[in-house]
Amino acid sequence: WVLMVTAQTPTNIAVIKYWGKRDETLILPVNDSISVTLDPNHLCTTTTVSVSPSFQQDRMWLNGKEISLSGGRFQSCLREIRARACDVEDSKKGVKISKEDWSKLHVHIASYNNFPTAAGLASSAAGFACLVYALGKLMNVKEDESQLSAIARQGSGSACRSLFGGFVKWIMGKEENGSDSLAVQLADEKHWDDLVIVIAVVSSRQKETSSTSGMRETVETSLLLQHRAKEIVPKRILQMEEAIRNRDFASFSQLTCTDSNQFHAVCLDTSPPIFYMNDTSHRIISIAEKWNRSEESPQVAYTFDAGPNAVLIARNRKAATLLIQRLLYYFPPNSDDLDSYIIGDKSLA
Ligand code: DP6
Repeated sequence: WVLMVTAQTPTNIAVIKYWGKRDETLILPVNDSISVTLDPNHLCTTTTVSVSPSFQQDRMWLNGKEISLSGGRFQSCLREIRARACDVEDSKKGVKISKEDWSKLHVHIASYNNFPTAAGLASSAAGFACLVYALGKLMNVKEDESQLSAIARQGSGSACRSLFGGFVKWIMGKEENGSDSLAVQLADEKHWDDLVIVIAVVSSRQKETSSTSGMRETVETSLLLQHRAKEIVPKRILQMEEAIRNRDFASFSQLTCTDSNQFHAVCLDTSPPIFYMNDTSHRIISIAEKWNRSEESPQVAYTFDAGPNAVLIARNRKAATLLIQRLLYYFPPNSDDLDSYIIGDKSLA
């Protein structure tokens, strides 16, 4: 017999960024962060997990290619989920698995991303969130989404925020064992559904410095990061929560853009400096800033993760249409500066 579960998880984009760990093994951050979960139809991971007595070892395939599960992050997620596994019964198949059996059974995992892996489009976020969620369902784990988020966090920090739709906060927590470092939903996907997300894929190539090694170097060398984590982000988190609560786009846009720019400033303050944005990214920032300034109130927010791709959040459909017209004007379809556009609504997850 084989038992199988399939799950789909969207990626998320941070509007107040996570950058820097206080514990590398448990993946505990130096500050809280807030994100928007995308529409699962656009950027998501689909993962099927299966279990059978005939499986000899745990194995995983990513986009059809087998990958190693020996890394500490996969092992932490598998261990934490197995530790919480419960009895499972499938009467149709005549299968009965007791809690204790799970430690002896092996799983096969097949995962697909519908977007470029590691191009700064947070593929690890959707990937680990989906893996933990699917394994949790297969093994009848009773933990709620927040408790599962603390497990997904050990796969990749940003993954903990993909267990929820809408607006999500990753609380950094205080405990040394990481038990209180988890995600909570601030508002569901219906709360602010005017927003439209447009992603300008500046480059679909794999980034040069991974988030993991980049943030390690920042923690070791940047004084600006310490100032950001202690003095700036705590206040910004409160302001962002209020902006989201009140659907205040002017504040939301100002905070999102400023925080993205500060994250990239912190990367520049790292030794040796890390450059994630390129000339095209900088041009997109100028286009957005100029447009926002020419209107009575801001029409778009921009944010860039560990790569050159722009995530643009338009205040409504009308603004999204105007934004795309502007982008097409500056970057016509045959231009070498952009690989593609991805247009999506905020999560309906
Ligand atoms: C810039 O979650 O990919 O996207 O925890 O080492 O796996 P690890 O890093 P990761 O870092 C994401 C960094 C970011 C900002 C964010 O998503 O908050």
